Amino acid sequence: MASNEVHIWFDSLDVSRQILAERYAVLNGEERARARRYGHDKVRERFVAGRGWLRCLLASYLGCEPGDVEFGTGPHGKPFLVDDAGSGLSFNLAHSGGMAVCAIGWDRRVGVDIEEIRPDRATDELAKRFFAAGEWQALAALPARERVVAFFRCWSRKEAFIKAIGEGLSFPLEAFEVSLGPGEPPALLTIRGDTEAARHWSLHELPAPAGYVSALAVDGPAPVVLQPSTN
Ligand SMILES: CC(C)(COP(=O)(O)OP(=O)(O)OC[C@H]1O[C@@H](n2cnc3c(N)ncnc32)[C@H](O)[C@@H]1OP(=O)(O)O)[C@@H](O)C(=O)NCCC(=O)NCCS
Repeated sequence: MASNEVHIWFDSLDVSRQILAERYAVLNGEERARARRYGHDKVRERFVAGRGWLRCLLASYLGCEPGDVEFGTGPHGKPFLVDDAGSGLSFNLAHSGGMAVCAIGWDRRVGVDIEEIRPDRATDELAKRFFAAGEWQALAALPARERVVAFFRCWSRKEAFIKAIGEGLSFPLEAFEVSLGPGEPPALLTIRGDTEAARHWSLHELPAPAGYVSALAVDGPAPVVLQPSTN
């Protein structure tokens, strides 16, 4: 495994009863208790499908049993591997609707996001509230037919970045700016007005299934992004 690679995996969270039972079987007590707290069946099943899938995926890299994968949690909730063997493996998971994406890297921070493209959610009000001024202006300058996808492109890139640094929404969304225009290379443009700091990161648009957009944020030199299932 080359350390300049980042591996990307997509999976459906709507799985058969049998697969769901297999995924549930590898969860620990805490994860099962969390699953029980979800009142809505679909939400519970998708959580079980996603967490079980994550355990199976990580176990295949670590050469262990899925049930033996041990997670820790960062100060803002980012799960990480308790890595006694020193594999250096890092990961991040995201889900939206019935799809999940997982990024796996080595000795670097990774963040992913996936968003179902829902035109009713791509409102000017949300863009003004969550996007940096430059992003909002770039979005408003686009022809109306390109705005919905650009909105979710921007959203997924921003979320991938706050997930890579592990801070989630405790990092102010207006404090950094990403590219969003069609045909524009994915990039982190500034962090608190600092373009040099932004250059330490690369953003990548991922080949999401139809109806979704997905983004990856990675620190350090731009990685080779691979989808092992399809390569
Ligand atoms: C971390 C955060 C960004 C998660 O966002 P989300 O859209 O709810 O969920 P995602 O599907 O992208 O990611 C969830 C997964 O990320 C991981 N995660 C949790 N906290 C995390 C953190 N602080 N950093 C990175 N990853 C985190 C977990 O694996 C989680 O999976 P689980 O719920 O099955 O345990 C959260 O801070 C949040 O509440 N976001 C709200 C979305 C928003 O308003 N975004 C604005 C973008 S413009």
